Amino acid sequence: MRLIVAITGASGVIYGKRLLRILREKNVETHLIISKAAEKVIAHELEMAREDMKKLADHTYDMDDISSPIVSGSFKTDGMIIIPCSMKTLAGIAHGYSDNLVLRAADVTLKEKRKLILVPRETPLNVVHLRNMLALAEQGVMIVPAMPAYYHKPEDIDDLVDFVVGRVLDLQGIEHTLYKRWGES
Ligand SMILES: Cc1cc2nc3c(=O)[nH]c(=O)nc-3n(C[C@H](O)[C@H](O)[C@H](O)COP(=O)(O)O)c2cc1C
Repeated sequence: MRLIVAITGASGVIYGKRLLRILREKNVETHLIISKAAEKVIAHELEMAREDMKKLADHTYDMDDISSPIVSGSFKTDGMIIIPCSMKTLAGIAHGYSDNLVLRAADVTLKEKRKLILVPRETPLNVVHLRNMLALAEQGVMIVPAMPAYYHKPEDIDDLVDFVVGRVLDLQGIEHTLYKRWGES
C-alpha cells in the first residue's frame, strides 16, 4: 500500500506522528508533506524538529514543490490522509484552491476518486467550517474529527491518540489493535 500523509498546522500533530509510526510497522509506503504552519506546531507541541518527523516517512516533499510526483494523478496511490487537518487546509480542498502541495495532492486524490481522509481539529466550529466539511463529505471525503471516545477506558494520552489513529486505519482498511472495540473483552 502507498499513502500520501500530510501534517498541517492544527493542534494535535501527535496524531500524525503516531500514524506514521504505525504505517511503517505495517510496511505501508508513505509520502509525507509537512505544512509550514505544522512545523511550528510540531516544534511547540512535540518539541520535535521537522527533520525528525520526516525520518518517519519513506519519501518527503517541500510544501511548495509543485513538480513532485504526487501532484499528478498518474502517480498511483491508495489514498491520502491529512492528520491533523487545519480549517484553512480543509477550506482550500473544499473550494479547489490548490496553491500548495498539500492542497494539490488532495485535489488530485479527489479527482482520481481515491480515498481522502481528513482529521480536522478545531473547536468550536463556525458555519464556514461546517459548510466546508459538508461539501467535502458530499464528495465522499471521510471526515474523522480528532475527537476520541471514552468507552474503551483510556488511561493516558496515548490511549486517546490511538483511538483516533485506529479509526483512521479502520477506514483505510489496515488491521490493527490500537484500541479495544466496543463488545471486545
Ligand atoms: C500552536 C498552534 C495551534 C493551532 N491550532 C489550530 C487548530 O487546532 N485548528 C486550526 O484549524 N488551526 C490551528 N492553527 C492555525 C493554523 O496553523 C493556521 O490557520 C495555518 O495558516 C494553517 O496552515 P496549513 O493548513 O497550511 O498548515 C494553529 C496555529 C498554531 C500556531
